[in-house]
Amino acid sequence: EQRIAASAVTDKGNYKHFMLKEIHEQPAVLADCLRAYADGGALRLPETLDFRGCRRVTIVACGTAYLAGLVAKHWIERMARIPVEVDVASEFRYREPPVPEGTTAIFVSQSGETADTLAALRYMKGKADRIVGVVNVATSTIARESDIVLPIHAGPEIAVASTKGFTCQLAVLALLALKAAFDLLGRDPAPDLATLDRLPGLMNEALGAEPGIESAAQELALASDALFLGRGAMSALALEGALKLKELSYIHAEGYASGELKHGPIALVDRDMPVIVVAPTDPLLEKTISNMQEVMAREGRVVLLTDAAGAKAAGQGPVRVLTMPEVPAILAPMIYAVPLQLLAYHTARLKGTDVDQPRNLAKSVTVE
Ligand code: G6P
Repeated sequence: EQRIAASAVTDKGNYKHFMLKEIHEQPAVLADCLRAYADGGALRLPETLDFRGCRRVTIVACGTAYLAGLVAKHWIERMARIPVEVDVASEFRYREPPVPEGTTAIFVSQSGETADTLAALRYMKGKADRIVGVVNVATSTIARESDIVLPIHAGPEIAVASTKGFTCQLAVLALLALKAAFDLLGRDPAPDLATLDRLPGLMNEALGAEPGIESAAQELALASDALFLGRGAMSALALEGALKLKELSYIHAEGYASGELKHGPIALVDRDMPVIVVAPTDPLLEKTISNMQEVMAREGRVVLLTDAAGAKAAGQGPVRVLTMPEVPAILAPMIYAVPLQLLAYHTARLKGTDVDQPRNLAKSVTVE
């Protein structure tokens, strides 16, 4: 019976690739994930996940999971007002960093088996106050060796490039930030939980932008390089967009915090360079628009990911605007992941690369 269930969940259904199926599963699995941890305006996280006395958070992970950690840094610092360090596991484990008292260590891993992340976790044993594992595979080694396990409830992820794993990691990390803010500052999580309830519906709307993204992908498929820009939490999404594009389509792509544009990458901008700008309406939008104008002044081809108000503010310059629903700030990282995933997916599909199993990459890197 178990085997039948397993084959049912690993079936591509009507989708051409597992990756596309997993992208489209996101509204449903995010709803499951939120249901597992929140109920009627209250958080339902393990009682042992108590941030009282916590003075700093260290998040360690690899690949896309590391980028989820970068987003979480914004949430935790903003809401709970404690410093957050985020590092890639391969660096962290050999740096042997000092661990001050009151440190909560969080290890994010879809598979729960990534060798570097596991080694970093083992380094933190006996040094951090508590070790939290944010994993998809609840029976994994990282889950077993963590003090507190927060499964992300994404269901099996088959495509090598993580999609629903990433957005479910984000959802769990957002809830964790709300818990930290409640424990440390007494901040009521109810309003944000009500906002998070809107996530599955808004993500369905974001998926509705797929036709426009497909035609943007036709142009992108002709490029040899691409630049992704964003500010604040969206700077992590810029990194994720670039990572996905290079992994899947083999187009050279780099992600940058928009403010760093003038410190290097602007030298690359010319009429052959697509620049994907990730900019929902937020207090940083104006700054990002001015970065965008610097790109356009050098004939760079801007593809702008924004909402209706952002599109209006940006004016006529971008060669293409991909319009997302208007979303509250806490939802933006999950929502904007979707067009970036679809852009990479369709670009790769048009180029004919192996979308589910890109060359040289493995789903889970269990050796160093
Ligand atoms: C590999 C995968 C990535 C993933 C990374 C971390 O590189 O190709 O998609 O983000 O490992 O994996 P983990 O299972 O630890 O999240």
